[in-house]
Amino acid sequence: MDARTLLAAVDDVKGRAADALLVILPARREAMAPGADWAGLLDEALDRADLVLEKGRTLYLHRPAGFAAARLLFVVAGDAAELSPRDMERALNAAAAVLRTLPVKSLLLVWGGAQALDAAAAEAAVRTLRAAQYVYRHTKPSAKPAGTVERLQLACRRADQAAVREGLRRGQALAAGIELARDCANRPGNHLTPTLLAEQARQLAAEQPGLEVEVLDRKAVEKLGMGAFLAVAKGSEEPLQFIVLRYQGAPKKVAPQVLVGKGITFDSGGISLKPAAEMDEMKFDMGGAASVLGVFRAVAQLRPRLNLIGLVPACENLPSGRATKPGDVVTSLSGQTIEVLNTDAEGRLILCDALTYAERFKPAAVIDIATLTGACVIALGHHRSGLFSPDDGLAAGLLAAGEAAADPAWRMPLDDDYDEALKSNFADMANVGPRAGGAITAAMFLKRYAARFRWAHLDIAGTAWKSGAAKGATGRPVALLTHWLLQQAESEGAN
Ligand code: BES
Ligand code: MN
Ligand code: ZN
Repeated sequence: MDARTLLAAVDDVKGRAADALLVILPARREAMAPGADWAGLLDEALDRADLVLEKGRTLYLHRPAGFAAARLLFVVAGDAAELSPRDMERALNAAAAVLRTLPVKSLLLVWGGAQALDAAAAEAAVRTLRAAQYVYRHTKPSAKPAGTVERLQLACRRADQAAVREGLRRGQALAAGIELARDCANRPGNHLTPTLLAEQARQLAAEQPGLEVEVLDRKAVEKLGMGAFLAVAKGSEEPLQFIVLRYQGAPKKVAPQVLVGKGITFDSGGISLKPAAEMDEMKFDMGGAASVLGVFRAVAQLRPRLNLIGLVPACENLPSGRATKPGDVVTSLSGQTIEVLNTDAEGRLILCDALTYAERFKPAAVIDIATLTGACVIALGHHRSGLFSPDDGLAAGLLAAGEAAADPAWRMPLDDDYDEALKSNFADMANVGPRAGGAITAAMFLKRYAARFRWAHLDIAGTAWKSGAAKGATGRPVALLTHWLLQQAESEGAN
């Protein structure tokens, strides 16, 4: 689907031409808009039990009499009177599954509840529809389209049009950011090497006015003294890249937010080699980096009043005659030494140097995003990302952004007691602790490099991609991060 959306007036639904009219219904009759154009059809369908008011149910009507639209589809959302972004997402996914089977190019969408359609619901609508129609083509150009909708008209009351228009704008920008993140993360390791990832960042900056990019090579990284990052990169023939993205939307003196994305384009585990089963999924180990690119795309489109820096340490984690060995001790950019007990705990090694590098920007806050631990998948499964932060305000803001964006996270602990696990007799710290609490000790490791700014860590190991038949990148947490940034820009402006 391209970027076209239009607003329509709700009192005009019957006469509007469209390939399909999609009516989203609340699950309770009392919550429905009185006197709607479709009320007669709906009453009859409900009386005959052709449609049941349960979440996700749909009813398709062909050439509905009295409507200019060629088709009518009812879909039942949640039972709350207001339509939450998550309910809109669920309803539209159910509708998209039906629409996919029909040649529908123009879709007229209307909310059948009595409550106003708000900006958040409009945002969720356009975002979900675009996500439902996404197909990966980079190495499979023959892939069939996942939907035919090209134009979305959203009907709402005239009084709500300004809010809905803003929601659509956000939804389009988020969709574009999420699509970029998915496209990047889905690319296999041989089609997205660190060099090609840097190329993607350059291309993004070239396409989007207001973005700048700079890429540091191995020599520059050596000169800086990023010994932990180098220790991971040195097992591979592919040259490492340290990508720095910049967006300036506020005066220079305004402290920037900094996003740090883990950019392991393939994680074999290194000398601590991973088992063969599902190792292919470690091409997604640059999901954090992909989300940073996605956020920059969305931000460049929305142009909020804030300054933003993106840092992506990118390399492969491979075994070789030059690879780091278990027991090797390396010196990080911060000067702290690390005993590499397990070369598969490489994410924290590349991130710690990027966190230290972030200090030079005197950041308002630093958020790192990483497919960091299998333990986080065990703890939270695939619905919520793990959020770690010693800063209650920052944590609350990110959690709220996750809820508002239907891209939720869950806060995890960072008590000092967990730090014991990282003690080493040969260096300032070890890079792994015991299996138990593995997501937390990974975060505790990063915390040692984040003492000089407000910091949060998002472990997206369970949320960045799906396995099985639906294998593919999700684009998370682009929506959470973008929402949080927009919120920061608004509260900045209020001061
Ligand atoms: N990229 C992996 C984490 C991962 C594993 C994400 C499986 C999603 C699914 C990370 O680099 C890693 O290998 N972590 C190790 C850490 C361990 C050695 C302490 C892990 O989780 O097993
Ligand atoms: Mn690993
Ligand atoms: Zn990894």
